[in-house]
Amino acid sequence: ACGKKEEAPAPAAAPAAQAPAADKLKVGFMYVSPIGDGGWTFQHELARKAIQEKFGDKIETSMVESVPESADAERVMRDMAGQGNKLVFATSFGYQEFVQKAAADLKDVKFEHATGYKQADNVAVYDSKTFEGAYLAGLVAGAMTKTKTVGVVASVPIPEVVRNINSFVLGAQAIDPSIKAKVVWVNEWFSPPKESEAATSLLNGGVDVMYQNTNSPAVLKTAEERGAYAFGKDGDMSAFAPKAHLGSAVINWTPYYTKVVEDTLAGNWQGGNYWWGVKEGAMDLVKIADQVPQDIKDKVEKAKAGMRDGSFAVWTGPIKDNTGKEVLAAGQVADDGFLRGINFYVNGVEGKVPG
Ligand code: GUN
Repeated sequence: ACGKKEEAPAPAAAPAAQAPAADKLKVGFMYVSPIGDGGWTFQHELARKAIQEKFGDKIETSMVESVPESADAERVMRDMAGQGNKLVFATSFGYQEFVQKAAADLKDVKFEHATGYKQADNVAVYDSKTFEGAYLAGLVAGAMTKTKTVGVVASVPIPEVVRNINSFVLGAQAIDPSIKAKVVWVNEWFSPPKESEAATSLLNGGVDVMYQNTNSPAVLKTAEERGAYAFGKDGDMSAFAPKAHLGSAVINWTPYYTKVVEDTLAGNWQGGNYWWGVKEGAMDLVKIADQVPQDIKDKVEKAKAGMRDGSFAVWTGPIKDNTGKEVLAAGQVADDGFLRGINFYVNGVEGKVPG
């Protein structure tokens, strides 16, 4: 039989061993904002392209951008399923109820919901530890603020965002405990005009270094115009504000997306709740500006090393809320349940958490 094979003429222009389309795992991505040129959705898109490249013919990925957190999201997911997608990444918190509805009906599709908390047999939830990046940025902010007042342009009031605000402030206060913070909420993930307006009001209120949990480079651009400092978030935003940019807290979704696709291809998709950070290569603070003192860069590296080997946790007591109540005792390390429920501001942050 072996000899016979050698004699057989090679088929003319043999196509590369390519799985027929029907055998490919189709993977859909749903985005809340335009991909744009940097930020939350842009990072998901980078990871989509990375897994497409990595898995080649084995998968076929597609995406739909600017899908609102409304019944539109459910319609888009049903369309994706109708087009043969068997794995769907829904990449915004507000998709949660719509993921639950679609998944209850579309039992042969696996859903992956970013930053939610509701699981099901065919729904996994995942997030990255954006608070670790916020803390690292806070260390830099603490060194660079002259007014001793930092600010955050906040998006949607959910624990993730409150945790990031606080983590940024804890980083700044690790450099100088007297640092205060102001917060302005825009109640949207992506609205460059509102993001700019909020940044302007922070700067007018005495803030000189800003962080944000929104999804565009608008805060950085505003800082650039006003001679203040800010950070990139989710993606590398250094190009948007060469003078204002102090660093970018970047999410890398590729390691997790690779794992999920590998598991799914192996028939081994498990579901669950995944929260990866610096340790797993899912978070980093990159492109720290030249003018940041070396001893601060060293502190950032030291904190990262501690996050990697487990010797350092951002949320280690003593930590007080901004009414003076102790929320973590000295030496106490917050568990995931604590982290997922943070609904207070830490000491030094002005105002009250909305809601
Ligand atoms: N949707 C768009 N951006 C974000 C974000 O930063 N966090 C969450 N949870 N959802 C988002």
